[in-house]
Amino acid sequence: MLMEMTATLGEGRTPLVRSHRLARELGVSRLYFKLESTNPSGSYKDRFIATEITAMLAAGARACVATSSGNTGSALAAYCARYQVRCAIMVNEAAPEGKLLQMRAHGARVIRVKGFGADAAVTEDVFRLLAELARADGVPLVVSAYRHCPAGMAGVEALGRELREQAGPEPHHVFVPVGGGGLYTATARGLAGSRWPVHVVQPEGCLTVTAAWRRGDREIRPVQSTTRISGLSVPFDIDASLALKHLLANGGAAFAVSDEEVYECQRLLLALEGIFAEPAGATALAGFRRALAEGRVQPGDPAICLVTGTGFKDPVSIAVAASAHPDTLLPAAELRGFLRAEVLSC
Ligand SMILES: Cc1ncc(COP(=O)(O)O)c(C=O)c1O
Repeated sequence: MLMEMTATLGEGRTPLVRSHRLARELGVSRLYFKLESTNPSGSYKDRFIATEITAMLAAGARACVATSSGNTGSALAAYCARYQVRCAIMVNEAAPEGKLLQMRAHGARVIRVKGFGADAAVTEDVFRLLAELARADGVPLVVSAYRHCPAGMAGVEALGRELREQAGPEPHHVFVPVGGGGLYTATARGLAGSRWPVHVVQPEGCLTVTAAWRRGDREIRPVQSTTRISGLSVPFDIDASLALKHLLANGGAAFAVSDEEVYECQRLLLALEGIFAEPAGATALAGFRRALAEGRVQPGDPAICLVTGTGFKDPVSIAVAASAHPDTLLPAAELRGFLRAEVLSC
C-alpha cells in the first residue's frame, strides 16, 4: 500500500506578499516576499523532502542517512515520523537550537559533526564517507542538492513555477540565498523559459558562487567558512557550479552581504513587515538592498525576495531583536494605569 503513496504535509503553494512598509522606506514600489517560511516544518526544504520520501517509500526504504545544516534535518525528521522511516542526521556543529530540537522532537537520531559545514576538507570527507556507507548498505543518502538527490530537488522547482503563476508574466528580479546552490538551481529551473534574472546572495564569510562570478570564471574554489548564518555555510562545491551555470544563463548577478546586514534585515522584516524569518530567510532582502544601492535594480523594478525559513529555527537571533522590547510584569491592579499611560495615550 505504501508503494502508491505520495508523501505530503501540505507543503508548497506558499504566499507571495507585497511589501508594505519596507518598500516605502527603501523608496521602491514593487517589492514582494515569497514566504517559504510558512511550509509545514518552517522552510522550503519540505518541498525537497516530500518528493524524496515519496521516492524512498516507492523503493521500499525504511531507513536513511542525511546531512544537514538544520532545515533539511527538520523537514526529514517530520516526514520520517509521519511515514515511519528511521533517520540519522549528520548536522553542522553550530546548527541552531531551534532546528536541532525540531529534529530530536520528531524522534530523529542527530549527530553533530565537528568542523562539518565550516571546514571544506572535513565537509568533503563526511560526504564521501556517507556516500560510501549508503552505497555499501543500500540505504538512501539524503542531501538537499542535485549532486546527491536530483529527483528530490526536482520537487523544489515548483517554487520557481509558483512565482510566475503568482506574480504574472512580467519579468521580476528574484533574490535567492545561496549555501550549496541547490535552492538557487531549482528556482532558476522552475523559471526556465522566462526572462527573469535570478540573483545569488551569499554571506561574505562563505563566497563560493559569488567569488567565481566576480572572477569571471567557472571554477568553484573551496573556502574556510566564517559566516554565522545557518544554512549558508557550505564551503565547497556541491551544487555551486550548477548554480553558477544557471546564473550566467539567466543574466542575474551575485551579491555578498555581511552577517550584520543579514541580522539587520531580519529585524527589518520583523518590525516593518510582520515577517518572522530566520537569518538565512532575511539574506535575500540584504542582497536586494545591495542591488538597489549598486543600481543593478531600479526603484520601479518588480522584485521578489525568498524568505526561506521561519524565525523559530534560530531563537538566539530572535532574542536579539526582542531584547529591544522587554516585557513588563505587573500586578493586575496596576494594569489600567499602565495601559493608559504607556500604550493608549501614545
Ligand atoms: C533557510 C535556508 N535558506 C537557504 C538555504 C540555501 O540553500 P542551498 O544550500 O540549496 O543553497 C538553506 C540551506 O540549508 C536554508 O536552510
